[in-house]
This record gives sequence, C-alpha cells and structure tokens, in this order.
Amino acid sequence: MPSRIILITGTNSGVGYAASKVIARKSSAFHVIMAGRSLDKVEAARAEIESSGDIKGSLSTIHLDVLDKISIHNAAAQIAQDFGRLDVLINNAAVGNLDPDLQTRLRINMETNFIGPALVSEAFRPLLEKSENPYAIYVSSGVGSLTRASNPDSSLYKTNSPVTKYGEGYATSKAALNMLALQQAMMNKDSMKIFAMCPGFVVSNLLRWDGDKANSGWGNAGDPMVSGETLLSILEGKRDADLGRFVHKDGVYPW
Ligand SMILES: NC(=O)c1ccc[n+]([C@@H]2O[C@H](COP(=O)([O-])OP(=O)(O)OC[C@H]3O[C@@H](n4cnc5c(N)ncnc54)[C@H](OP(=O)(O)O)[C@@H]3O)[C@@H](O)[C@H]2O)c1
Repeated sequence: MPSRIILITGTNSGVGYAASKVIARKSSAFHVIMAGRSLDKVEAARAEIESSGDIKGSLSTIHLDVLDKISIHNAAAQIAQDFGRLDVLINNAAVGNLDPDLQTRLRINMETNFIGPALVSEAFRPLLEKSENPYAIYVSSGVGSLTRASNPDSSLYKTNSPVTKYGEGYATSKAALNMLALQQAMMNKDSMKIFAMCPGFVVSNLLRWDGDKANSGWGNAGDPMVSGETLLSILEGKRDADLGRFVHKDGVYPW
C-alpha cells in the first residue's frame, strides 16, 4: 500500500490534472485518486498521464460531483473500503460562472466553490482522522482576499474588465471558502494540517465563456504544472511554517 493516499477533486483539466501528474511523477509513495463529475473524463485524464511516462506513483479514478451529496458519500465509502484512510484531501473542483443573471451566477458559484468543498470536507473527515499526518487543502483564489480586493494598490482593485463585470459571484465564493478554510484550520489545529492555497493565474478550463482566449488568460496565464508543484510542496510538509494560512507559490496572501 502506498504511504500517502491523496484525493483531488476536479482532475480532468487545469490545476487538478496538473497536480495529479506532478504528484504521481514525484514518488512511488503517492497514490492519487483522481475525482471528477464525469468518470469518462477523469479516466481519459488518468490514461493520458499514465501514457506521458515518468510516473513513479499510482493513480486511480472515482466519480465525485461536489453538488451531489450522494456522490460525495459514495466516494467516501468506496475510498474507506479500498484504502481505509485518506492522507491528503485537495478540494480543487470549482467553476467560474459568469452568467448574466445575478441569482444564477451567485447560486452556481456558491454551491460549487463553497458549499461543495464544505460537504466534501465533512464527508472525508473520518478518513482523514485515520491518517498519521493528514492534510486538507482548499484551492482558493487570490480574488477571494478581502484585503487585496480593498487595497487600491492591488491589481484586483479594478472594476471594468470583462471578467470582473460578472465576477463577483466567483470572488464571493472564494472569500467564503477562505473563511471556511480559516475556521477549519482553527478548529482542527491539533489534528489536521489545513491550508487555503491560490494556484496562481494559470491555463485551465475555468473561464469557458470566451473559449481558448479566456482559458489561456489571453496569452498571459501560466503553467498549471507550477500550481501542481505548489500543492506537492504543501503535502510534502515544505510549507508547514505557513500552516492555517492562505498560501501561494511565493508566499502568503492576507485573508
Ligand atoms: N486557473 C486559474 O488561473 C485559477 C486561479 C485561481 C484559482 N483557481 C482555482 O483552481 C481550481 C481549479 O480550477 P482550474 O483553473 O484548473 O479550472 P478547470 O480546468 O475548469 O478545472 C475545474 C475542475 O473542476 C471540475 N468541476 C466543476 N464542477 C464540478 C462539480 N460539480 N463536481 C466535481 N467537479 C467539478 C471540472 O470538471 P468538468 O470538466 O466536468 O466541469 C474541472 O475538472 C479552482 O478551485 C479554481 O477556482 C484557478
């Protein structure tokens, strides 16, 4: 049995896919359970990673839709049966919904990016508690930082870009996720290592509204493999000095 069992939600693209690849390439000690709401998509992603070579760890897949409590609990029951514990939970799945209808985009962003991770954390807590060194990582976003959003010197302090026009739903969901991570970190500080983490601005499928142009950040987005390296550094204990904080590649964001 591998010594570290790692569950990542939303692994068929972007940060979750890259993190699965980085972690599986790192060590035979790691087993990555690639979760997704489409089993076909995560199985295709796993096959792609395995055929890319240089894999030292192992990979498996599981169906997990963060909007569906039954699917979350079925996944937890399956992992309990297969592994008996979980060492690392990476709550990564999210949407960047920019629907013009306010109620629609607030609801979809909050349900997927905040309520979903809360339900996933609750369902997997008993399995994490069976680990000798459990980590729970909430993949958030720098746009969820109230301190940055309210600082006129910050790059986030702007209101007229096409992304920010309907972006309050996403940003609000990440601010809520940050509060969840902070509260979880305080409540579980003696039993679990909990982080919020921003993966940086990287190529992914998050912004679907303008196709490839938005997905690549209009050419400005970075490589999600770098985000995967940051997640790896957290679960390897290299960021333990920042326990309970909102970390990114180069440091810590203010809440
Ligand atoms: N990319 C960036 O620049 C950036 C910046 C800051 C933070 N982030 C954060 O990084 C994380 C990963 O996003 P990404 O950028 O890699 O975007 P992405 O490529 O769109 O990946 C998001 C993943 O979440 C999955 N997902 C969506 N709804 C789900 C649900 N109900 N249940 C389960 N899985 C679901 C998606 O699956 P489907 O393909 O089935 O929809 C996909 O696998 C997110 O938390 C995001 O907020 C990204």
